[in-house]
Amino acid sequence: MIKISQPCVGEEEIASIRLAFETKYLGLGSKVKEFEKALQDFLNPENPPYVACVSTGTSALHLACQAIDLKDGDEVLVPTITYLASFHAITATGATPIAVDVQPDTGCICPADTLKRLSSKTKAIMPVHYGSHLGPIKEIYAIAKKHNLRVIEDAAHSFGGTVDGKKVGDEGDIICFSFDGVKNITCAEGGAVVTRDPNVFQRVSDLRLLGVFKDSEQRYAGKRSYDFDCVEQGWRYHMSNVNAAIGLAQLKKIDTFAKIRQNHFKLYTKTLNKHIGSPLPLDIENTIPHPYIFNLTNPGSLDPETMRSKRNLLMEKLLERGIESGLHYKPNHLVSFFKTHNTEPLPVAEDLWSRMITFPLHCNLTEEDIIRVAQNANELYEEIFIKEK
Ligand SMILES: Cc1ncc(COP(=O)(O)O)c(C=O)c1O
Repeated sequence: MIKISQPCVGEEEIASIRLAFETKYLGLGSKVKEFEKALQDFLNPENPPYVACVSTGTSALHLACQAIDLKDGDEVLVPTITYLASFHAITATGATPIAVDVQPDTGCICPADTLKRLSSKTKAIMPVHYGSHLGPIKEIYAIAKKHNLRVIEDAAHSFGGTVDGKKVGDEGDIICFSFDGVKNITCAEGGAVVTRDPNVFQRVSDLRLLGVFKDSEQRYAGKRSYDFDCVEQGWRYHMSNVNAAIGLAQLKKIDTFAKIRQNHFKLYTKTLNKHIGSPLPLDIENTIPHPYIFNLTNPGSLDPETMRSKRNLLMEKLLERGIESGLHYKPNHLVSFFKTHNTEPLPVAEDLWSRMITFPLHCNLTEEDIIRVAQNANELYEEIFIKEK
């Protein structure tokens, strides 16, 4: 079976975990501090941003939302095509996620639709680096500046990428990474909030430890706060020394991971027949592609329902041939929990939803695996979409 995604971990991670065990402290401690420093050096050794490591990418987004004081009645503009995590992070603060349509080629938030959905309640925009593409990020910052909004970048897919010579996360308002099991680097589970705003950094650092003021600093020094005060709702969202140890070993391998993922991306794009669809238009030399998201061509004027059922058949037939595939992602405005505030159709996203398919991409795959996936997809597309037309 060719798995859609998989962690790429080995002896180096085990050796690093052993070192974490030797500290005799498994919670937020010296290894987390070391990982935060390693991330700062990776992002910009000369002028590092603040980095606070947390338990997941979802908790990173949630804490970022809380750190900018989102609350009941506030609205956040967020592309409808994203993982549920982006939407849940917003609702967790009481604020409302307003689903925004996406660009047809990148699948990222559409600036024109963003402007259309601005209201007096809008407090922030949460662009998502969909399939490792940053989309119209500069336009989004321009809109935010003009309307005095905060920006929380959901950068779960784009760790390690570079834009205009700067690492993703080095620049921007608040950038949230995920290091879950299948991301560009993994901590098993983990995430990070990156910012140059000292207030956001301090809030996130405290909120991840139940809101105890400066408890992170105590723990890094091997101490704990006992006679504490706490002034707001906090969470147990900190990263553990064990997860940080895995991340430290992974970060050392990032150049190797980048090459493998980039080569696989290029090989897919070369091997998949042009007429069957198109991948996201990534600047591949400066991107570490996380999923391989591909948008199938609608070969005639298939209605979305038929297109979707044929695409699903393609996925089933791939599975019969030992190849997993996936969908990234079902638009959130179609999900029951988020429908109430998002009743308008979002046509671009709904069209992409009927045509998207994600092919396997991870560092344990060989070139032969990629060619096998692509050739099977080519063959099945002809069978399902062309011959059966
Ligand atoms: C776009 C996006 N945002 C947020 C997350 C949440 O990250 P985590 O799984 O670490 O909570 C993910 C994870 O898959 C994601 O893909």
